[in-house]
Amino acid sequence: MQFTELLKKRRCIRSYTGEGITKEQAVKILDAGIRAPNSCNYQAWRFYATLDRKLIADYHQKAANIPWASDIPFLVVICLDNEVVERLQKQFGEERGKLFAYQDAAGAANHMLLKAADMGLGGCWIGPIDVEKCREHFSIPAHHTPAAIITIGVPKYDKGARERRPLDEVVTFIGE
Ligand SMILES: Cc1cc2nc3c(=O)[nH]c(=O)nc-3n(C[C@H](O)[C@H](O)[C@H](O)COP(=O)(O)O)c2cc1C
Repeated sequence: MQFTELLKKRRCIRSYTGEGITKEQAVKILDAGIRAPNSCNYQAWRFYATLDRKLIADYHQKAANIPWASDIPFLVVICLDNEVVERLQKQFGEERGKLFAYQDAAGAANHMLLKAADMGLGGCWIGPIDVEKCREHFSIPAHHTPAAIITIGVPKYDKGARERRPLDEVVTFIGE
């Protein structure tokens, strides 16, 4: 798919057909995640990926508000490695170091969602996470902190491009 077309086509998809995703497809999506720009190339991200539908559906029941959970064939918890976060904080200060690490996670999420769209799949980003419940449910060790979740599946509907604020409302060109 043409890149500009892909940018317009990608939407947050919350309805899946129920079809499965293969491990090969999952790996391609994860591989797109690690290609994202990241702070100092320290790659603060760590990924906990699952194709276990019951585990995913149970997560909604126990810990999260993902109403479309029963149909999700592939889910990734994007975590931060606490040691890398500390290293960034030592280098850039407490707040900025942490922000940089979260930006790593956001970049990876975006790459994976774009890759999924390029493969004809659809994904959605879940921001609000109960960190402790998420850690417990997906057996994530204490030195990794959940930062974002993405759900991926075969889209039930083809959603059109979503309206955005016009460029002249959000962009200021500076200088000549
Ligand atoms: C940080 C962040 C958190 C988000 N959290 C949620 C969420 O919890 N549930 C949800 O359905 N969508 C969530 N989204 C998806 C947004 O709602 C979606 O990207 C936005 O409405 C624009 O729609 P589009 O992605 O289809 O263009 C989140 C997106 C981001 C970037």
